[in-house]
Amino acid sequence: MGNKARFAVLTDLHYFSPSLTDGGRAYQLRSGSDQKCLLESGAIIDKAFTMLAGDETIDSVLICGDITDDGETVCHEEMVEKLRFLNKYKNVYVITATHDRCTDGNAKTYFGDEYQHLEDTADADDMYKYYRKFGIDQAISTYKTHLGLYSYVVKLCDGFRLLGLNDDSNGVNGSGYSPEHMQWIVEQLQQAKKEGDRVVAMQHHVVLGHYVPFLTGMGICCRDREWVAETFASNGVEALFVGHSHFQNITEYTAENGNRLVQANIGSLVGHPGPIFKVNIDDDYISMNTEYVKEFTFEGKTYNTEYLYEHSKGVVANLLNAAASGDVDEFVARCGAMGIRNEKLPKFYFLIKKLARYITTVNVGSFAKTVNRLTFGKGIDKTAAKQIADKKVIDIAYEIFLNLFDGGINAHKKGTPTYTVVSDFISIPGKIVNKLGFVPDNVKSILTEITELVHLLMDDNIDNNYYRARCTKLIEK
Ligand SMILES: [Fe+2]
Ligand SMILES: [Fe+2]
Repeated sequence: MGNKARFAVLTDLHYFSPSLTDGGRAYQLRSGSDQKCLLESGAIIDKAFTMLAGDETIDSVLICGDITDDGETVCHEEMVEKLRFLNKYKNVYVITATHDRCTDGNAKTYFGDEYQHLEDTADADDMYKYYRKFGIDQAISTYKTHLGLYSYVVKLCDGFRLLGLNDDSNGVNGSGYSPEHMQWIVEQLQQAKKEGDRVVAMQHHVVLGHYVPFLTGMGICCRDREWVAETFASNGVEALFVGHSHFQNITEYTAENGNRLVQANIGSLVGHPGPIFKVNIDDDYISMNTEYVKEFTFEGKTYNTEYLYEHSKGVVANLLNAAASGDVDEFVARCGAMGIRNEKLPKFYFLIKKLARYITTVNVGSFAKTVNRLTFGKGIDKTAAKQIADKKVIDIAYEIFLNLFDGGINAHKKGTPTYTVVSDFISIPGKIVNKLGFVPDNVKSILTEITELVHLLMDDNIDNNYYRARCTKLIEK
């Protein structure tokens, strides 16, 4: 029997303490503009931790940062209690990220109609104080960054090491690694190799951009990501677990020396679909599979996955429904909650309302007729449109949008009526733009990427919830 690494990975728990709100209007606006659940986060985390505590198929749980909503001290203190519970049953390894130190000054309380800025937030020293028991204290080696944050290496199990990396800052221009930090990482990887251990790693920011560049390019990735990917892969990191984007995606990278690195970008635990990412690595295969928090109890009431779906959908739906409602004040308030503030909004509300009412009510049958009239019958396949004529266009749009977070659970395979209708429609702007000579190349490339993204989300060839591959060494043979 060879060695086996068996663990679960969670990320972006964004725990929000119930003591920070009374659930009133200010909170509703905040919550309604967020993909993840806030007030319910504790209940979701408790359910996930209980599931993992009793899970005989894993030995360890890894958490890839953004543990608290915005670095609130009270959230850290309550989270540490939850981690202590889980740690009674499993090894727990945690890294922190930017949301754990409130780097954007965004920590707030929400009572009644108002929000107040919260001063009581954590700093780098607090990260060590709260989380040293979950990785740093067990470390073979640690590295303290210029911000006073820690990366560490632990022996995950026989034959395997885990690199828990803090990539909050490269010291120059964003997240990532300074040359000194990377040198320490390389030394650790060489040492592991020398002692015959295989290595998996976790950090918060994405290394391998995925889906399409305008969405998962530089913004969500750590700096110098090509260098990071090549250094990790060529020095033997076999699997890398990241969060931050809240998107679910599995991507491979092959180093110049032939080593393969698989990156799992895992969705936030407290948003749709509540992913618990399970990993099993043995001598032959590396296998990954996603399980879900299918049910949780909050304030005595039981909620299921439908609730998470509806909540995440709310990021768009709450704004659209407010636009369609006829209540201009509600619409302006919802825009404000999303950071959209423009004094001209009420002036154009009648137009916005009209458009929103059309978007939220039109069905595929009627939409396809309109599009085909405008495109002289060359827009949407009539047979496909007829087959799903009663389906609301907006519900298809929500499904596609949420596939970003669930990695394609709601994908429609190629050839299905929904795939055909969406594919036909999404390619229209590109076709028009390509015929117009004066459209700038960057506009053309964004349209191409949007088309590509929708296709990827509609019919993803790579299942982003499941992965199984022969180990690199076996491929080399
Ligand atoms: Fe996050
Ligand atoms: Fe983040």
